Amino acid sequence: MPTVTFTLPDGQVRAVQGRDGQTLLQVALDSDIVMEHACGGNGFCTTCLCDVTAGAENLSPRNDREENMGIAGAQRLGCQAQVQGDCAVTMTGV
Ligand code: FES
Repeated sequence: MPTVTFTLPDGQVRAVQGRDGQTLLQVALDSDIVMEHACGGNGFCTTCLCDVTAGAENLSPRNDREENMGIAGAQRLGCQAQVQGDCAVTMTGV
């Protein structure tokens, strides 16, 4: 099971277990971590935006929805990036 380490907006760090194929948003919500998701996890807002600080190679490739929203560099949409291994993200949603 992948370990996802979330750095929350208040600086708190939580390391939790996810399942292969879950999105970062699903992993967070399953672990009672508040990750904003104003559009319901459909890739139309940026409230779930994260900066990947480790394990970017363990996330699914950036998809069309992220590309179309100009998500680049270390940024990923929490509702679109699927976990395939250990990773760490900082929640920066705007
Ligand atoms: S929840 Fe809206 S883009 Fe992810």
